[in-house]
Amino acid sequence: MDTRRTRPTQDSPIGVFDSGIGGLTVLKAITQLLPNERIVYFGDTARLPYGSKSDDTIVGFSIENVIFLNTFGIKAIVVACNTATAVALDFLRGFIKIPIIGVIEPGAEAAVRTTRSKRIGIIGTKTTINQHAYARAINEIDPNVEVLEVPTPLLVHLVEENWIDRDVTKAILKEYLSPLLGARIDTLILGCTHYPFLAKCIQEIGPDFALIDSAHETAIALRRMLRSEHLLTDTKDQDGTQIYLSDLQPDSTQWIDSFMGKKIPISKAENFPFR
Ligand code: DGL
Repeated sequence: MDTRRTRPTQDSPIGVFDSGIGGLTVLKAITQLLPNERIVYFGDTARLPYGSKSDDTIVGFSIENVIFLNTFGIKAIVVACNTATAVALDFLRGFIKIPIIGVIEPGAEAAVRTTRSKRIGIIGTKTTINQHAYARAINEIDPNVEVLEVPTPLLVHLVEENWIDRDVTKAILKEYLSPLLGARIDTLILGCTHYPFLAKCIQEIGPDFALIDSAHETAIALRRMLRSEHLLTDTKDQDGTQIYLSDLQPDSTQWIDSFMGKKIPISKAENFPFR
């Protein structure tokens, strides 16, 4: 895609997308670290989950998300979805000529910095785990780190239902985490946007795990990338953040306001996807 005609500037917005609203964990971290940046967030709520879909479908959806965000003249993209990062990031980098960052490399770097036992566990959707994207990113930094990957597909649905501290959720987590307990892992990557909401339960089951949540690490990596591309804004008090969703349910706006801790304009993405 040729973006040269739109010529983004330092004051252009940053585009962020996720398969739904789990990526708001990344949006929140970015707005806290880079409060002067304008951000357009797109959540593909109509087509969630991505984690159980084929690679071709996820690449196709990701391209449509990027085309939508690019209509805002964005200067950079954050793929705030582990599954889309694992499957589509390299493809998107060839598709659009603006800087793009995903959530996997920043999470992998933080995990390698954290581990002392050199054994790292990862939980994620089936697709993220099958891609071994975290394991590859970790072993590129340090080939001596052992990585244990566990797919945990039911967790997204439990979080979507807000069943974040039910007994059934704890029972499922115990079962999922059992191969990691006693495996001398000291660091666990929450390799899915939804899992930070389960951090308290996970920590109860594995109190010795240092949990890595990619959101904050991604915000730091984004700042580094924008600085090196001379794209960090100097302008203060710009006209803020906007959220677009491909499906907008009446009760989601309340949840988003309370999670973000402030009121952000939320709209349905009209005519999405453009075909
Ligand atoms: N956003 C996805 C991820 O981080 C989780 C939800 C989904 O399966 O779409 O992997």
